[in-house]
Amino acid sequence: MKIEWKDEYSVGIKEIDDQHKYFISLLNDLYNAITAGKSREELKDLFSYLADYAEKHFATEEKYFDEFNYEGAAEHKLKHQEMRDEIEKIKNMDDEKREIDFYGNIVYLLKTWLEDHLAQMDQKYEKCFAEHGLK
Ligand SMILES: [Fe+2]
Ligand SMILES: [Fe+2]
Repeated sequence: MKIEWKDEYSVGIKEIDDQHKYFISLLNDLYNAITAGKSREELKDLFSYLADYAEKHFATEEKYFDEFNYEGAAEHKLKHQEMRDEIEKIKNMDDEKREIDFYGNIVYLLKTWLEDHLAQMDQKYEKCFAEHGLK
């Protein structure tokens, strides 16, 4: 169930690779907390920290899209928006429902989305970002 960093996820830019690695580690922290049976409050705090970090990361990428006039920006922002909507939905669940879902599909959903996003969407801007001098 854990998510692991793979070299193929690298976009060749340290700032972004570091953010992706940290994003992965936060998701694993949440997973570990769930399997360790941590309290509802602790899970909620971890999730809220992860959600804030996701927003920070999306904003970093989107700032570069705008700066570099990236041609895939609209499509990519839409994918980020899907995750923002999911996160919002989870935040708005009542505590009991969220707790049940933590043991069910929340981590799975986040993991699947992130793995797919790292392997597909984020790879697509690598060339554009490199051409604008990011490394
Ligand atoms: Fe990303
Ligand atoms: Fe992205």
